[in-house]
Amino acid sequence: MRIVPISDLDADGLSDYARLTDVALRRVSEPEGGLYIAESHKVIARAIAAGHEPRSILLQERWLADVEPLLDRFPDVPVYVGNSDVLEKLTGYHMHRGALAALHRPALPDMATLLADASRVVILEDIVDHTNVGAIFRSVAGLGADAVLITPRCADPLYRRSVRVSMGTVLQVPWTRMPEWPDARRILDEAGFHVAALALDDRAIGLDEFAANPPERIAITLGAEGDGLSSQALDAADTTVMIPMLHGVDSLNVASASAVALWALRRS
Ligand SMILES: C[S@@+](CC[C@H](N)C(=O)[O-])C[C@H]1O[C@@H](n2cnc3c(N)ncnc32)[C@H](O)[C@@H]1O
Repeated sequence: MRIVPISDLDADGLSDYARLTDVALRRVSEPEGGLYIAESHKVIARAIAAGHEPRSILLQERWLADVEPLLDRFPDVPVYVGNSDVLEKLTGYHMHRGALAALHRPALPDMATLLADASRVVILEDIVDHTNVGAIFRSVAGLGADAVLITPRCADPLYRRSVRVSMGTVLQVPWTRMPEWPDARRILDEAGFHVAALALDDRAIGLDEFAANPPERIAITLGAEGDGLSSQALDAADTTVMIPMLHGVDSLNVASASAVALWALRRS
């Protein structure tokens, strides 16, 4: 392990941690494809297990033993070590989760490849809230769906808040950005998917009814908190499905809706 005690906060390799906005990290031109930040030993372990490559690690000395086994394959990756005051000065916040890693963003898979062996996928249409994106990934992983597709305007699953809320499952569940609806629908058709739009629509069928005889391969489409699904997403669906609501409540939070639907439509 290449341990580098922090002596100068302006040192080159530390700038990934000093310019900690996700937008800045995503856009850095070197390395190609940008970076993302993983927080905590557990999430870093999940990222490395998923084949992601760390560019550096930042931590207090007492966390070194936890991180050491993760870096067997990366003996040259610098591990910056400082006390809690130094780390707080650098990152701008108290690092109570132990370690941070700057990792290279992985190349996203092609949508058709992602669908090839899948039978349950979730499509996130323009969900801009990173907390909801992370919570949906957690449901997808925990309830056994195979992959997530996100529309071009959907929030980035690798932003820190999404990674954190997902408990690192955004690093484990296969996902990619899909093209706009007409092209995406054609690729879903070619892969034999039935598209089920989850929407609040009086003409929708109930989730129980849909789940009683589910198609072999299902893509569940979910919309944003404010607007719900677009008319293009509704037009692209084979079936519109609704979770019946009681007590005058008009809808569920989108992440809760994803969990209910994924449970009802789980493979037997
Ligand atoms: C908060 S809802 C959006 C509410 C929005 N005002 C609307 O009319 O669609 C966010 C997303 O969660 C899903 N959703 C929430 N509650 C649902 C329900 N009862 N039945 C089906 N889908 C639901 C839908 O995909 C919806 O687009």
